[in-house]
Amino acid sequence: MELLHLKKLDIANKKVFIRCDFNVPMDEFGNIADDRRIRSAIATINYCLDLDCAVILASHLGRPKGEVVEKYSLAPVARRLQQLLKRHVALAKDVVGEDAMQKAKDLPRHEVLLLENLRFEPGETKDDAELSKKLASMAEFYINDAFGVSHRAHASVHGITKFFDNEHKAAGFLLEREIQYFSKLMNNPVRPFAAIIGGSKVSGKLEALVNLLPRVDKVFIGGGMAFTFLKQMGYEIGASLVEDDLLEEAQNIMDEAKRLGVKFYLPVDVIAAEKFSEDAVSKIVTVQEIPQKWMGLDIGPATVRLYREALNDVQTVWNGPMGVYEMEKFARGSSKIAHFVADTYATTVVGGGDTADLVKRVGVDEDISFISTGGGASLELLEGKVLPGVQPLMVETTDKKD
Ligand code: 3PG
Ligand code: MG
Repeated sequence: MELLHLKKLDIANKKVFIRCDFNVPMDEFGNIADDRRIRSAIATINYCLDLDCAVILASHLGRPKGEVVEKYSLAPVARRLQQLLKRHVALAKDVVGEDAMQKAKDLPRHEVLLLENLRFEPGETKDDAELSKKLASMAEFYINDAFGVSHRAHASVHGITKFFDNEHKAAGFLLEREIQYFSKLMNNPVRPFAAIIGGSKVSGKLEALVNLLPRVDKVFIGGGMAFTFLKQMGYEIGASLVEDDLLEEAQNIMDEAKRLGVKFYLPVDVIAAEKFSEDAVSKIVTVQEIPQKWMGLDIGPATVRLYREALNDVQTVWNGPMGVYEMEKFARGSSKIAHFVADTYATTVVGGGDTADLVKRVGVDEDISFISTGGGASLELLEGKVLPGVQPLMVETTDKKD
């Protein structure tokens, strides 16, 4: 199977609808805190403009739950887009209301129109066919470049694809790159291949772990989820985060890793603290010596050295922080790991969300081979799922010799 390519569409001089993921983080002043998702969409937009298209852009922002909520307006996104594209971007007052429909209809070639937040429409998250149809009616071509939301069967991502045949829809360049990176990793990795899996809960990463085990050579566990494994192994984990209902699953994963010959690494020491707080008293302890009522909030220096040793020159996929990186005191483990995966010559792919935020904070984002723009979406790819926004854009591979 392969994706429908944007470059194969005959879009010159036509009207195109591009679904983007401009769901960017905002600071307390309403400024865009990180515009990576907007910058990542520019290539596709410029490609269409260079072919003299009229370009309609659509995105969600936050979760306004089907109502018009001022603070989720895409106005700041329109302004940033305008700067990045160096051209005027019109913002419609609504999504499929009178203003948007009229502006879309009248949109001349070379002009860019951004619709208001798709989630102001209750039908968006319900994959409503009426809404899909109205959105589809705006343009002759549909392009999905919204990787970050392609795991959602929403009207502008999924339903809308039914209104375009294979000659009139495709994946944008960002979506294509995301899918290519992950499918190469999952189906044809360079060996040795390792997964670093962190985050607070085993439950959030269980399916990904199960799917990754048969594909990787090594697994490195960090974050709160490590304690469920450590407890199952018989360690006293104090007041550390644990999912008691998943102890058996944790055992199954370790058994499966052993059966498959996958090297399974757990922290050997942690930064333990008296309470979950930046000002907590903390100390470095081995996992054998976590004091009662204390909680492990980061991996310790011995674990960092161990992981560095075992990750040397290994192709790596990383999803989930090693500790509570939002608190400086417990960010060191994640930061150290970020530094040496960035330094390695081997390919490193970072799943979006927290881990992307983390490598950016550490300042090594430029040295990571690929940072996904999707958190939930990239996790679903690691889980082996086909995304509902991607599936309608897949076709049987055509014979290359033709
Ligand atoms: C994200 O940031 O995770 C995507 O934009 C999808 O948003 P959602 O999680 O609110 O569906
Ligand atoms: Mg999300």
